[in-house]
Amino acid sequence: MTVKIGLLGFGTVASGVPFLLRENAGKIKQAAQDDIEIAKVLVRDEAEKSRLLAEGHVYNFVTDIDEIILDEEIAIVVELMGRIEPAKTFITRALQAKKHVVTANKDLLAVHGSELRTIAKENGVALYYEAAVAGGIPILRTLANSFASDKITRIMGVLNGTSNFMMTKMVDEGWTYEKALKTAQELGYAESDPTNDVEGIDAAYKAVILSQFAFGMTIDFEHVRHKGISGITPEDVAVAQELGYVIKLVGDIQETPSGISAEVSPTFLPKAHPLASVNGVMNAVFVESIGIGESMFYGPGAGQKPTAASVTADIIRIVRRLKDNTIGKDFNEFSRPLQLATAEDVRSDYYFSILTPDVQGKMLRLAEIFNAQAISFKQILQRPTDEKEARLVIVTHSMSKTQLEHVTKQLEESQEFQVSNIFKVLGD
Ligand code: NAP
Ligand code: HSE
Repeated sequence: MTVKIGLLGFGTVASGVPFLLRENAGKIKQAAQDDIEIAKVLVRDEAEKSRLLAEGHVYNFVTDIDEIILDEEIAIVVELMGRIEPAKTFITRALQAKKHVVTANKDLLAVHGSELRTIAKENGVALYYEAAVAGGIPILRTLANSFASDKITRIMGVLNGTSNFMMTKMVDEGWTYEKALKTAQELGYAESDPTNDVEGIDAAYKAVILSQFAFGMTIDFEHVRHKGISGITPEDVAVAQELGYVIKLVGDIQETPSGISAEVSPTFLPKAHPLASVNGVMNAVFVESIGIGESMFYGPGAGQKPTAASVTADIIRIVRRLKDNTIGKDFNEFSRPLQLATAEDVRSDYYFSILTPDVQGKMLRLAEIFNAQAISFKQILQRPTDEKEARLVIVTHSMSKTQLEHVTKQLEESQEFQVSNIFKVLGD
């Protein structure tokens, strides 16, 4: 038998799916136990269709979604257009038409995932999205299946290939922010609007999905604090190196006594930490659990073929389940009521970069402000700036989010200190 699929979109990722189906046909046939055929491909308009045909692509390109939704021969819809609409409407219609759906759309899943999973369940069809988190790393199925016996306590991840690629080039090769972003876009790593990549939003979407698979809790996107890489200065990068750290955009989800907390932020990682050596477009997910202990899953987080490999694996899984008549199970069956951590329970070391006039007594005053909040210093550094100011760099011992909020307010209100940046620091 041949299982027919309809592709929605023919951009970076979608155009990698035919490559794998063709180049690995023998193994795929063994795993799926049926042939897979791309029956139709939805593209935006006639001009796009003509362009693709002229380039030599031989698919049945259509411009009306009904040609796929109403086609009873198409069993699987693979959405690779991105963004919320019309992807949400098209996926909803496909599920309601009893078609199985594969997507890599983390934006959509992070915000409307619960609704779409319910529709899939009501219609007895599969909704799989392995590629939505960390592109080519098979992390979701690993968490759902291989961690079934284990209790995860924390997940940290370098989850955005674009920002990691950019920071690696800016730090190691002195590239400008603009050159790094342009190259990431040319290489197909960045989203069509790269704001989400550089502002930590894309990684926050992935943190929402990871929280479901690792902790069984569906955290709202609004509850994931996120800060991106655009505010990191060359001074921060230099000081990090001097103090023995590497700055990376890190997603951090942990379970505390009061509940889970999820955050994406530039983070000082000790150079010896496994995440510190994740460079370029590579992603990694570092898992702490009571059984396995520490484990790290590493691979390309973006790019055409790695992402298409995860998408195609989902397609194969559906075809095989159809063959075995076991289709319809949730992608992730772990579910608990959501409990959010209180600010007192979320703790970290922090880096403060503070500007102040270079005059006697400022360091003492600063120490008083931190001491009033019972915050202890771990490392201190002072550097003159061009403006006859001092840059005071403090790395603290562990403090809660409540303490962080109080000390930040005190510093702002003091009028003596200008807080240039505050970043999390992962303790040794
Ligand atoms: P892309 O290169 O921008 O491709 C999307 C394609 O869909 C474009 O050709 C776009 O056409 C088309 N499209 C958009 N709206 C459409 C519509 N209404 N009808 C028909 N076609 C439409 O994006 P991508 O990088 O392949 O990403 C696809 C999905 O995979 C996204 O959800 C993304 O977040 C996810 N993802 C990507 C990567 C990666 O490395 N790129 C990794 C993991 C996950 P236009 O160009 O005309 O807009
Ligand atoms: N733009 C994303 C990234 C693609 O750079 O990681 C993978 O989701």
